[in-house]
Amino acid sequence: MTGKFITFEGGEGTGKSTQARLLASHLEQSGMQVVLTREPGGAPGAEVIRDLLVNGEPDRWSPMAEALLFNAARVEHWRQCIEPALKSGTHVVCDRFADSTMAYQGYVGGLTREAMAQLHWLALGDARPDLTLILDMPAEAGLERAANRREGENRFELKGEAFHAKLREAFLDIARRESNRCVVIDAARAMDQVHSEVLTAVHTRLGI
Ligand SMILES: Nc1ncnc2c1ncn2[C@@H]1O[C@H](COP(=O)(O)OP(=O)(O)O)[C@@H](O)[C@H]1O
Ligand SMILES: [Mg+2]
Repeated sequence: MTGKFITFEGGEGTGKSTQARLLASHLEQSGMQVVLTREPGGAPGAEVIRDLLVNGEPDRWSPMAEALLFNAARVEHWRQCIEPALKSGTHVVCDRFADSTMAYQGYVGGLTREAMAQLHWLALGDARPDLTLILDMPAEAGLERAANRREGENRFELKGEAFHAKLREAFLDIARRESNRCVVIDAARAMDQVHSEVLTAVHTRLGI
């Protein structure tokens, strides 16, 4: 049996890393094999690219250069980490994936959905998550959470309010277009409430 591929998406500070961790521990405690991973990163070459993407000036890259870098990292991550795990029957929980590239560089960066879809096709073919949990909350509240979290790796957090408001709409539009794959979760609530909604979605959609 192949494993299930579950991704968390949403804006900064919406709780993706927190919820990915909670879900992975829950599945593990239920006796399943699980890999918890994140983007950009999750493979040696992809971690090197991560440094180029998450640090430095907010306008360091054009949207297309950024989209190419994310896809380059994603190819390594997919081939070296995600695909082998799924094939061996291990579930993969991933903190951000291709929808983030579609939202940040596509919808907000001004590249077309078609261009992003073509890049994805070249990089990964028809590989996509079995389930995507989109954590949704007002952008300012998420940024406040993110600001309290830690220093560093904050290049995208620095992009300004309009950017983050558009980002929220982008993720909601992706969820509307791909409602078979995506579930929107109200992320403004307490961590354990969000976690229990995540578990319900995983159980309902994937039967695990
Ligand atoms: N439901 C929640 N309510 C309050 N604070 C939260 C909640 N979920 C996460 N946090 C806190 O908000 C900050 C950002 O969460 P994180 O999981 O890192 O978000 P993301 O990975 O989406 O940027 C962290 O300090 C985390 O502990
Ligand atoms: Mg995070």
